[in-house]
Amino acid sequence: MHQELITISSIDEIHSLTNKIRKEGKSIGFVPTMGFLHDGHISLIKEAKKNNDVTIVSIFVNPTQFSPTEDLASYPRDLEKDKSLLINAEVDYLFFPNTEDFYPNDFQTFVEVNKISKILEGEFRPTHFKGVTTVVAMLFNCINPDNAYFGQKDAQQAAVINQMVKDLKYDIKINVSPIVRENDGLAMSSRNVYLNEKERKDALVLSRSLSIADELIKNGEKNTTNILNEMKKKINSVESSDLNYVSIVEADSFTIIDTIEKGRSYYILVACKIGKTRLIDNKFVSI
Ligand code: PAF
Repeated sequence: MHQELITISSIDEIHSLTNKIRKEGKSIGFVPTMGFLHDGHISLIKEAKKNNDVTIVSIFVNPTQFSPTEDLASYPRDLEKDKSLLINAEVDYLFFPNTEDFYPNDFQTFVEVNKISKILEGEFRPTHFKGVTTVVAMLFNCINPDNAYFGQKDAQQAAVINQMVKDLKYDIKINVSPIVRENDGLAMSSRNVYLNEKERKDALVLSRSLSIADELIKNGEKNTTNILNEMKKKINSVESSDLNYVSIVEADSFTIIDTIEKGRSYYILVACKIGKTRLIDNKFVSI
């Protein structure tokens, strides 16, 4: 087991390190995170370790993906615990950039994916994906990985990043790992820590509404309005819930659809506030 974790903050140093690794002919697996790590992140790290010579994890709470009314200042952070989880997971390097280096005062370049950034999450968080794609582009340029790992929990984020990689001709494979859930079905998320005891129970309505939709689809329901109405009914029955959206998209193109067709794959998606905490969840269905 590794006893220490090599942490790099300097951009020059990360460039030299990753250039050296590549010159040695070794592959790099990269897991970008905002820290406060949980088993969902660890599952991505395991995938990276399995399929690459060197694994690099980044921790950077990226200010540009939060709107002024969101939780940037209070976003949960615990660097020491994160480092011990990374040591246990035998990660080779932690990249921990400084905000001033990533966004100096004269910073003026953003990366924006036009169409799929604007629907669903994009409607409720209009500047969010522009911040995500900008920081992920910077991280990719620093690390130059062969493989990058993202969680299916943020299925739209993965679709947006895939589009960016395709459009900007990055030679990086995007790997998406299944959602990791608590025993009772709640999707793991750093933001779950905001939930009080009652809200923690109420939050199960997200995964339960997805199971209802899944069941209806498996029983042959084709009309998405009927499916989404049943999800809404379930979510609205919980007093602390404030539904943002439920939707079904075709998995590859991430386009919203009206009718389920045989032989295709879909994501059923939900975004909902429980009390003050905004949660998202989804289920992949192939029929
Ligand atoms: O999914 C996340 O944690 C973040 O959006 C990411 C990809 C690390 C970019 O800041």
